[in-house]
Amino acid sequence: MAGSRFRRPSLGPDFGYAPGEQPPHGDGWVKLNTNESPLPPSPAVAGAVAGSAATLHRYPSPDGEPLRSALARYHGVDPQQVMVGNGADEVLDCCIRAFCEPGSRLVLSRPTYAVLPILGRIFGSEVVELPVEEDGTLPAALGTTAGALRVAVNPNAPTGVWTPPDALEELLAGASGVTVIDEAYSDFAPASCLPLLGRHDDWLVVRTFSKAHALAGLRVGYAVGDARLIADLGAVKDSYPVDRCALAGAMAALADEAHHRAIVTLVRGERDRVSARLVGSGWSVLPSQANFVLARPPDGAAAEAAARLRRERILVRHFGDGPHADRLRITIGSAADNDRLLAALAV
Ligand SMILES: Cc1ncc(COP(=O)(O)O)c(C=O)c1O
Repeated sequence: MAGSRFRRPSLGPDFGYAPGEQPPHGDGWVKLNTNESPLPPSPAVAGAVAGSAATLHRYPSPDGEPLRSALARYHGVDPQQVMVGNGADEVLDCCIRAFCEPGSRLVLSRPTYAVLPILGRIFGSEVVELPVEEDGTLPAALGTTAGALRVAVNPNAPTGVWTPPDALEELLAGASGVTVIDEAYSDFAPASCLPLLGRHDDWLVVRTFSKAHALAGLRVGYAVGDARLIADLGAVKDSYPVDRCALAGAMAALADEAHHRAIVTLVRGERDRVSARLVGSGWSVLPSQANFVLARPPDGAAAEAAARLRRERILVRHFGDGPHADRLRITIGSAADNDRLLAALAV
């Protein structure tokens, strides 16, 4: 719906993020369109969430404790270096609110995580989008273009292309303003930028429980960085951003390292299998270190392929406009889900 006559004119009638389709549960859908985990969360999560219900008459910790301290221990940093939010989306929004004035520059690659330019425009930032190279690598201008805030998504979305931490450090050397490295998918990649944080008091690494901890439905994300930057995020965050159920569930997921590793191992193995099968049938697949692949069918008719799959109750993501309109972004599912996809594509 176009909205009312009261909407801020600068937004326009078509403004907003278009999320992937969420079909009703239990209807035999294969859901490979929103980069969720192929496995459910750790079995310990349900009990932890249920156990927190008895204290819901109390507000949660405004700082997301005890999760904040648990994450600090997990990453070997001080609790003051961690900010916990209602999904990485809220953390990214806080970065814009804390470091951009309306009108100042938010520097992004194009494509990148589609929520980012939207958050920037809501805030009134000047959003600068710098095209990635032909092979999906991040452009050098991402480091050299002046801005109050820049975001490097690594592995990038929706390409899956990953930049090794030392190469990213080189690309971002001397960048102005604050640099956010969005590592939503880094658990599926060979390495993280977190060990480099000690050298960069102007970097924040943003992470989420939605992917490799299988908690997309619970909404927990966080930032790690210099304590002063984290204090800036704290200054603009919601009063109680993460509810008690979410804090308890994330604590349980974080404690179950074996389950987390199982998700990562499954996704990496299936990612290689799915990629090889697609390539073997003439698809072109960008090398992905994430839990999805961006793949072009041999005839480039990606929209038609997505529609055909949907008729078989298999959901993948097609981005209708932009440079990747001839590609599908396919989340790596369970072996059985991937088999259904590969059979439907006859690859
Ligand atoms: C690159 C990237 N960053 C952040 C997010 C948001 O994560 P969350 O579910 O924690 O809000 C996503 C979600 O898909 C993403 O792809």
